[in-house]
Amino acid sequence: MCGIVAVIGSRDAAPLLLEGLKQLEYRGYDSAGLATIEFSSQASNNGSLTCLRAGGKLVNLNSLVDRDGAPGQLGIGHTRWATHGKPEEKNAHPHRDSSGGLAVVQNGIIENHRYLRKELESEGVSFLSDTDTEVIPHLIARQLQLSLAEGMSPSGSILVEAVRKVSLELKGAYALAVIWDKTPESLVVARRQAPLLIGLGEGEFLCASDTPALAGFTRTILPMEDGEVALLTPLGIELYDIRGERQQRSPSLLNGLEDVVTKRNFRHFMLKEIYEQPEKAKLWVDRHLPYGLPASSPIAYPFENSFYEGIERIQILACGTSRHAGMVGAYLLEQFAGIPTSVFYASEFRYSAPPLAPNTLTIGVTQSGETADTLAALAMESRRRKSHGNPAFAPRQLGITNRSESSIARQVPNILDIGSGIEVGVAATKTFLGQLLAFYGLALTFASRRKSRSVEEITTMANELRNLPSQLFSLIEKHDQLSISLSQMFSETQNVIFLGRGINYPIALEGALKLKEISYIHAEGYPAGEMKHGPIALLEKRVPVISIATPGVVFEKVLSNAQEAKARDAKLIGVAPNGLAEEVFDALLPIPEVSEWMSPLFSVIPMQLLSYHIAANRGLDIDQPRNLAKSVTVE
Ligand code: M6R
Repeated sequence: MCGIVAVIGSRDAAPLLLEGLKQLEYRGYDSAGLATIEFSSQASNNGSLTCLRAGGKLVNLNSLVDRDGAPGQLGIGHTRWATHGKPEEKNAHPHRDSSGGLAVVQNGIIENHRYLRKELESEGVSFLSDTDTEVIPHLIARQLQLSLAEGMSPSGSILVEAVRKVSLELKGAYALAVIWDKTPESLVVARRQAPLLIGLGEGEFLCASDTPALAGFTRTILPMEDGEVALLTPLGIELYDIRGERQQRSPSLLNGLEDVVTKRNFRHFMLKEIYEQPEKAKLWVDRHLPYGLPASSPIAYPFENSFYEGIERIQILACGTSRHAGMVGAYLLEQFAGIPTSVFYASEFRYSAPPLAPNTLTIGVTQSGETADTLAALAMESRRRKSHGNPAFAPRQLGITNRSESSIARQVPNILDIGSGIEVGVAATKTFLGQLLAFYGLALTFASRRKSRSVEEITTMANELRNLPSQLFSLIEKHDQLSISLSQMFSETQNVIFLGRGINYPIALEGALKLKEISYIHAEGYPAGEMKHGPIALLEKRVPVISIATPGVVFEKVLSNAQEAKARDAKLIGVAPNGLAEEVFDALLPIPEVSEWMSPLFSVIPMQLLSYHIAANRGLDIDQPRNLAKSVTVE
């Protein structure tokens, strides 16, 4: 997390940095800062460095820049999500060396910062912040001193070399940008296991942690590879690998960012994104489920036959909402397509993966394509399979993402782009639906290839998916209204229980996560049958229970579990079709009576809208909830 923007060119850097940071605020918003350098004297070739930092959201930094000014055509900017040190001004980036002339912004975590800090302190360096980042400017300054002592003059070359050498001392993941007042025509950037892209603009070069920050200025980008360091000057880009070898690569073009990011007439991005779901579902259907495909190959996915062949087992690695989508996916892949499938928290899998099984497809699910735990788990799995040696254990990986230009697309050979469009609200909504649809497509394909389902069953599911966009459209309008009134009863609520079973258990988890994230109400999702084994002790009249009860193998069971809750005085809200069990519930959020397979695509809508309206009633910052960031690029 944290967002980095940097620029070197011929116009004022500060407005550009602020505009770029605005697009990156979803990566963190607890403080922000920038540093710029202006030529102060052509003769000495020195620049004068201005550094401004402000606690809180970007608007505070905007005011500071308006008030104090930040002149110069070279600059670096940062929006922070706190890891080391509280979210306050002294911990905001940029951080500087003891002279104040060298400034650094960083994304990631320097894992050996305590060791490095002690070493620097023993050399007399004083630290001004609690961050891991602050060691970096001091280490670079130390390296530069050595070069100057050897008689070298300040130059971009010695700066880039100093940053490269310091990179070798750092442990952990980072992306960083560095400026030095002795080299006002040099910007140095570097990355390891955290994303960084160079943008080639007109008369300027930019650098940022993510494409939205560049899209307003250029469409031509050069993603940096792991371990690379680059020197950007007004004349061009020099790219080096970690050994200092010069690298040559052609830039590529950014596509598909046209709809970046306006709220239109919606109060929040989250609500806009909930409303976009029918349109995004229609795009998916049009692209992947055109009429006329044979039942033997029901989905137009961009994979060769060999991609599907010989797979005996699937494992899904993901975090948060993406893991919930993976859980629905696992249900479909096992129960519909007949492939044994397991789902893991990526953060757990990294350190306690199960013993290797042959012929396994590993699927990483990440809307941002940048989640550090998911990327690291995929990389670890790939390494241990490669080192096994037996071809049956070779890595076979698929990434499901909303950002086909992100790190996962450079790491994993096969990518399914869910095509949901940029999601700005921190709480994932339309991308969850997109991830679910990706799994429906996989389940259909595997089922037809393995003949685990009849042609009729496959055709029925394909047709149900084709009907989804129009059904979603009316469902969202209806639930928007229903949730507005139902949300009133949550004004004093402190705890909520969500129940689901089978394919809807992950939707109960997702409902609880949405509510926690944006309303700060404590919520838990349980498999409905598990309530009586402990959580039922929590129930009393102030604890609402939201129960997903959709027709299928566990319908009656869920209703019994719901009644057990009602018998303990809990207010019972049902997410169920009309006319099947109204008498059981105190309130009903009705969804269409669809097949059990399809039900998660509908039951998630009331979860999203009810959470949204509960948080809106409380006047909370729905798109940027406290302590969260849209993409979690640290471990
Ligand atoms: O970008 P990813 O899908 O990998 O993100 C994973 C989680 O951080 C994410 O789903 C998080 O749980 C969301 N804020 C949920 O709304």
